[in-house]
Amino acid sequence: MSTSRLEMRGISLAFSGFQALSRVDFTLTGGSVHALTGANGAGKSTLMAVLCGTHARYEGEISINNQLVTLREPVDAKQLGIHLVQQEVDVALIPGLSIAENIMLDHLAQPGHRFHWGKLREQARQALAQLDVTLDVRRSIDGCTLAEKQQILLARALSHHCRFLILDEPTAPLDAHESERLFAVVRRLQQQGIGVVFISHRIHELKAICDTLTVLRDGKLIESGPMADLSGEAIVEKMLGHELSDIYPPARPPHSTETLLRVEGLHDEGLLKDISLHLRKGEILGIAGLAGAGKTELCKALFGASKSRVARGELNQKAWKPRDPADSVLRGLALVPEERRKEGIFIDEPVSMNLAVSADNSFSRWSLFGHRQAWRWAEEVIARVGVRTRGPGQVLRRLSGGNQQKVAIGKWLRGNAQVLIFDEPTKGVDVKAKTDLFQLIDGLAREGKGVIYASGEFAELVGLCDRICVLWDGRIVAELEGATAREETLLYYSTGGTAS
Ligand SMILES: Nc1ncnc2c1ncn2[C@@H]1O[C@H](COP(=O)(O)OP(=O)(O)OP(=O)(O)O)[C@@H](O)[C@H]1O
Ligand SMILES: [Mg+2]
Repeated sequence: MSTSRLEMRGISLAFSGFQALSRVDFTLTGGSVHALTGANGAGKSTLMAVLCGTHARYEGEISINNQLVTLREPVDAKQLGIHLVQQEVDVALIPGLSIAENIMLDHLAQPGHRFHWGKLREQARQALAQLDVTLDVRRSIDGCTLAEKQQILLARALSHHCRFLILDEPTAPLDAHESERLFAVVRRLQQQGIGVVFISHRIHELKAICDTLTVLRDGKLIESGPMADLSGEAIVEKMLGHELSDIYPPARPPHSTETLLRVEGLHDEGLLKDISLHLRKGEILGIAGLAGAGKTELCKALFGASKSRVARGELNQKAWKPRDPADSVLRGLALVPEERRKEGIFIDEPVSMNLAVSADNSFSRWSLFGHRQAWRWAEEVIARVGVRTRGPGQVLRRLSGGNQQKVAIGKWLRGNAQVLIFDEPTKGVDVKAKTDLFQLIDGLAREGKGVIYASGEFAELVGLCDRICVLWDGRIVAELEGATAREETLLYYSTGGTAS
């Protein structure tokens, strides 16, 4: 089997005057796993979108095995065996259809094609089997978790003749175990001679499975070569253009003993069982857990976004039970949800509008003053969270994935929230943005707010939290002091280990 070689040379692309890519070279060979990294907005997804035929107006040359090809439409790329698993999985899936239909979508879309449903499902199952995944392919896509949705997209790519596979932040929705499973799949595809592009902000992952590395910064090529030549620190430095020293904020002074929020005996209709927790003024409480442990369920239940019952509860010194999101917001409780693209933002509205609608109505919709205030507020958030955008008027869809997340987070910084719940806030954001975010959360705690921080990134919990509760199978199985907690201990409890 001869090795395929794909070359992009001098690729440039501008969006109404904004130079998203400037003369970028990128080479992908069959049987290699090529890391593509860079800060949020560096141009990674855009470069790969060119390769997938999404941007007809690119400049530069693309060749496969020294033959020039033109990629002006998605179908061009697919015919050449180039497939993409997108960063925003929901965009690529059709709600209401079954898993099987979503996997076999391109086949179904072929005109004049007659298909046999039984066979189609079987093909979908086989595509999933390549990933060691078994799902009931008749199920609707709507009930699938993010991790499942991603497997479905991967299966879709593998249902074709695939020579080059692009994975745009595939591990963002996965926990450590699921990521390991994905790595095994990637290695197998690599052995089959497929060239894989792996986009990620997690440097340790890139080091673990990629042999080659390309770093972009501000739409330009900064570095390309063997992975082994660069240390993790050197990669971060290339990404940012400067060194990054401390990711985590320095230790906070002891927080107050005043309780902001307390629940006892919380159960939801599914997973959560008998959860009791409390949060003090100025405290950051971590909720550790792997995917499926119940972190998102717990965040939603506390915010009143799902049905739950509690034996007793208090919020800001008043008796309280989670009711619904509107009631929570009124009482000073805010949630930055995990599936921000679906639940937290309006993708076709400008940044300013997205930041203005944080559910309290302190900006009047009708007055000019309100509008101007909203604009100024947006400028402030853009600076505080470091959103890479051309200004408050830019529509969210035009922002890179990581920058959309920052807007979703920024939305909650205004208003009267005393307790802020963050569900996996660092997913998909680059290392600099993570640092900014930690600082911001640390700042909230120093101001005397209470923060609940749910994450599967144990190092982050250890670096940031005062106290950490570990969730396993819908229960809190351990509680540790942040100052002395270790990642290994969190992993031990979160995989079902028990205190002996
Ligand atoms: N359709 C578009 N119109 C205008 N600007 C765009 C469009 N698509 C991308 N951009 C801009 O191009 C730049 C690069 O975006 P891109 O999505 O490629 O970044 P990225 O490296 O994938 O970042 P992330 O890590 O956040 O996913 C960003 O500044 C983005 O706002
Ligand atoms: Mg991207």
